[in-house]
Amino acid sequence: MNQHQVPRLDALPADFVWGVATASYQIEGAVAEDGRAPSIWDTFSHRPGKVANGDTGDEACDHYHRWPEDIGLMRTLGVDAYRFSIAWPRVVPGGDGAVNKAGLDFYDRLVDGLLEAGVTPFATLYHWDLPQALQDRGGWPSRETAEHFAAYASVVAERLGDRVKQWGTLNEPLCSAWIGHLEGKMAPGLTDLTAAVRASYHLHLGHGLATAAVRAACADARVGIVNNLSPIEPASGSEADHAAARRADGHTNRWWLDPIHGRGYPQDMLDLYGVDLPVHTGDLETIAAPLDWLGINYYFRQVVADDPAGPVPHARQVDPEGARHTAMGWEVHADGLEQILNRVTREYGPAAVYVTENGSAWADVVAADGSVDDPERVRYLDEHLAACDRAVAAGTPLAGYFAWSLMDNFEWAYGYDKRFGLVHVDYPTQRRTVKTSGRHYAEVVRAARAAAAGA
Ligand code: FCB
Repeated sequence: MNQHQVPRLDALPADFVWGVATASYQIEGAVAEDGRAPSIWDTFSHRPGKVANGDTGDEACDHYHRWPEDIGLMRTLGVDAYRFSIAWPRVVPGGDGAVNKAGLDFYDRLVDGLLEAGVTPFATLYHWDLPQALQDRGGWPSRETAEHFAAYASVVAERLGDRVKQWGTLNEPLCSAWIGHLEGKMAPGLTDLTAAVRASYHLHLGHGLATAAVRAACADARVGIVNNLSPIEPASGSEADHAAARRADGHTNRWWLDPIHGRGYPQDMLDLYGVDLPVHTGDLETIAAPLDWLGINYYFRQVVADDPAGPVPHARQVDPEGARHTAMGWEVHADGLEQILNRVTREYGPAAVYVTENGSAWADVVAADGSVDDPERVRYLDEHLAACDRAVAAGTPLAGYFAWSLMDNFEWAYGYDKRFGLVHVDYPTQRRTVKTSGRHYAEVVRAARAAAAGA
């Protein structure tokens, strides 16, 4: 039984989409099956010292074989929608050129299964698993990667576009560019500002080109992009900390929002990075293709202090006094979600917004009877849903919420230790167990539907 009360969410629209999210490399496993070629995450995770405990995505949740059971879990949760990503190295293993029919067939079966279960597919075309073959030819710092991405997008949309109508191009390009090419903590593991800035630019270009490609293949597609955003606050009233907050905001938010909304790249950040963008005529218009929705992933805010000697953007994150933290060490701050939703609405006027990811990792304990009671995750969920509700009341066109994640999975450089799932996965046996939070989410969804039907 779920002992937790369901939060009142009066402002959410009647057709609000309740979903769960995952990503290919984090759950699929089967990395060498049916013609899939290695991605940059296979390479990175197999490099000693890059991932906690030497974990890799080789098996992950074995979703590649267990997807019918996983669709069953979605039915148990009663969600409307499933946001998943398609592995480019399954579909076009070389990055460009030959299409691997078996790879496409997998997603074809998955989509049919979802539709049969009454779950709307939201497909993300890129959640970080670049074919290694393209990395070997320069990766995202190279323009050709953006062009190959569009060609791959076109192949996928041609095959699935009769049934998949909701398309996300990129997931969190910030992580690909800044964490993958500047901080070196994610694949491909570079620490090179010029490469990082060029990667960010070609990710945006790839997004714009893929948007057009999806629309060409699927006339009624609804296309968006997913950014991870954080409200930024200065650690003190000092001018230096305010300036640091402005830089951190540019690095985390404006760099990723301005160009896709037709404003070009923020001049203060161009000056700070000091890297020329490889712009060709017409690129900025391609990048700014009007979108049907904007996806926002929200995990934490940033409170920052000036850090002149530190890495770009010379802003050090400070831990606010009295903060609560998840197992990731991330501060729990639901007001930040409300703030970022309202700000994006005010400053960029998106047609529609989805919270495409939000969730929390905790040190879950499996009880003797096999159950997993996770009150902190329940509380986190309720607080963030309440924040969504307030943002809608304030005018944010929020159309849906996707909990991260359907089930525990490979948490990138943190490996399997960090569990974000509404469903627990026992990796040795691959047994799935719905946690208290999963049952709670099911009740939230049911109550919201009932309220909408009665309204
Ligand atoms: C986001 C990623 C997602 C997951 C969560 C915890 O940055 O998009 O894949 O790892 O963080």
